[in-house]
Amino acid sequence: MLTVRAPASSANLGSGFDVFGVALGVPADVVRVERAEETTISVTGVGSQYIPEDPKGNTVGAVAEALDAPAHIHIDKGVRPASGLGSSAASAAAAAVALNELYDRGRSREELVHVAAKGEAVVSGDAHADNVAPSILGGFTIARDDGVLQVDASVKLVACLPEVVVSTRDARQVVPQSASMDELVATVGSAATLVSGMHRDDPELVGRGLEEHVVTPRRAKLVDGYDDVKAAAEAAGATGVTISGAGPSVLAVCRGDDRRAVASAMLSAFDDAGVSARAYQTEIGEGATVY
Ligand code: HSE
Repeated sequence: MLTVRAPASSANLGSGFDVFGVALGVPADVVRVERAEETTISVTGVGSQYIPEDPKGNTVGAVAEALDAPAHIHIDKGVRPASGLGSSAASAAAAAVALNELYDRGRSREELVHVAAKGEAVVSGDAHADNVAPSILGGFTIARDDGVLQVDASVKLVACLPEVVVSTRDARQVVPQSASMDELVATVGSAATLVSGMHRDDPELVGRGLEEHVVTPRRAKLVDGYDDVKAAAEAAGATGVTISGAGPSVLAVCRGDDRRAVASAMLSAFDDAGVSARAYQTEIGEGATVY
């Protein structure tokens, strides 16, 4: 028997749509695996009632099949499904690392990113590695078609999760098919600033690098209170704010000692918009850990 903890993650970071991601210190999923003749799945924890236990409909079932590693897999959800915090990716990442170890498959962590992404694709129809990469590798990741780059960044964050659901499908439907040259130039500038900030552990640069005007403004309309929450977080000291993944979570980059004030300002702004929420005061964290 083997237990692996894999963290929540925040994808996109504004300027890195479908490319950038960070592992979060909290929350996380914990997956326990035990060899078996065929794969069975049980799920407990946050939102477990929404997660299918049939291996064909569950991302970890697809991971077990890809690694030819049948097992009883127990998922203890700490990451709420449909939160924008890489919930299914955390389960897939933990299962990939756990089953690789349990069956001694010898895959590298980079190879496991692709296994976990394929697992996600079987269930969700799309193979973005921007959540599974940070969940497995930790830190800040750049997921490209030809591989993944990883930086051991350390920046303080607040992830504020409202009690509403935004489906990734809906959030992808509002993404425009094209962008203007001006928008492209601005996005490249932001993305480069963000990468530079990650290398220097500089929250000012990372915050500025979140700015993006193609995808984020369209998705913001799907999150009640977003503009006020963003303004409140910035007034409380956040260096930048964006939508986490496909939403509805909102991610704020902080200088460090202002996380409590930023979290409190975001919660109040959501409350004023009639939305209850919870805030994770966290930081860029480690990837999947084997116990
Ligand atoms: N990059 C993805 C998106 C993350 O924003 O749609 C969610 O799967």
